[in-house]
Amino acid sequence: MLDWLAQSDEPVLNIDKLTYAGNLENLQSLEGDARHIFVKCDIGDADHVASLLALHRPRAIINFAAESHVDRSIHGPADFIQTNVVGTFQLLEAVRGHWNGLAEAEKLAFRFLHVSTDEVYGSLAKDAPAFREDNTYEPNSPYSASKAASDHLVRAYHHTYGLPVLTTNCSNNYGPFHFPEKLIPLCIQNALSGKPLPIYGNGQQIRDWLYVKDHCSAIRRVLEAGVPGETYNVGGWNEKANLDVVHTLCAVLDQLQPRPDGESYAKQVTFVKDRPGHDQRYAIDASKLEKELGWKPVETFDTGIVKTVQWYLANQAWANNVTTGAYQGWVGKHYGG
Ligand code: TYD
Repeated sequence: MLDWLAQSDEPVLNIDKLTYAGNLENLQSLEGDARHIFVKCDIGDADHVASLLALHRPRAIINFAAESHVDRSIHGPADFIQTNVVGTFQLLEAVRGHWNGLAEAEKLAFRFLHVSTDEVYGSLAKDAPAFREDNTYEPNSPYSASKAASDHLVRAYHHTYGLPVLTTNCSNNYGPFHFPEKLIPLCIQNALSGKPLPIYGNGQQIRDWLYVKDHCSAIRRVLEAGVPGETYNVGGWNEKANLDVVHTLCAVLDQLQPRPDGESYAKQVTFVKDRPGHDQRYAIDASKLEKELGWKPVETFDTGIVKTVQWYLANQAWANNVTTGAYQGWVGKHYGG
């Protein structure tokens, strides 16, 4: 939202259910900005969505709404099925009804962009080629299975009803406003408060890291020039083992905000029980997006992680506000203590 409105004056209708990871504080800088309309709404409430579509008549929908934390999906898959599968279905139904009523030229120009994940492709062997758009879907967690199901529904609405859909499958995002349950913001926050930095298993699992602003620019590009019915992989060309990610962020913190005792934050690294069904490696081949639509990420991991750590250091009040209440309950349940 912030990124869109920094680039464009086109108004945005922002609908969000405001679950545990949603926070109006994230939108504080848009207060009083007439280009941004916020409505608390569940994508699964098709009637409410339909009335908003009729009122605001958007030219495109971007569906970012999802339960997205793998560990939560292991403890409780039901919310993932509800939001990611049923919610996407209900949203598609509301959009289909709206789209059917548009004039022919508006119908042609309309877009439904569905934001998904590389996790739908499953896990890669160490030396296997990175995921391409034509890889088979082999999801391994309740989370990735629910996203895979939603991708299939989006595809079906194109083939069956002609809805002009676009799907993007991105790698691991990081950057400002990231809820501190995910590896990078969790470790920044834990490091600063003197807590352990929990590494699952041996920490040799590999992810590709995509700076959030690069993800935003990819979505803008696909919305603008993507071919309806196509899917586009979005990645940062930054494959890293988890342990290296955490050591890098410790080194950045050591520079920017040294521990009072002069030791490295890396001292807080703690190996903990592995995640069940933990995927070994994800890697994205983003060359289709580069060749066909001319998109490339701007940040390397080394530049993006510095920006990210700087943002968290400058926004400790935000981080502390979002990690109260229900968050404490999650940390106790998942990590113990
Ligand atoms: P995460 O940020 O949860 O993203 P995803 O599971 O979607 O890739 O995790 C990134 C990697 O870090 C993943 O391999 C699991 C690992 N991880 C830890 O080692 N410790 C943690 O406390 C968390 C949350 C994740």
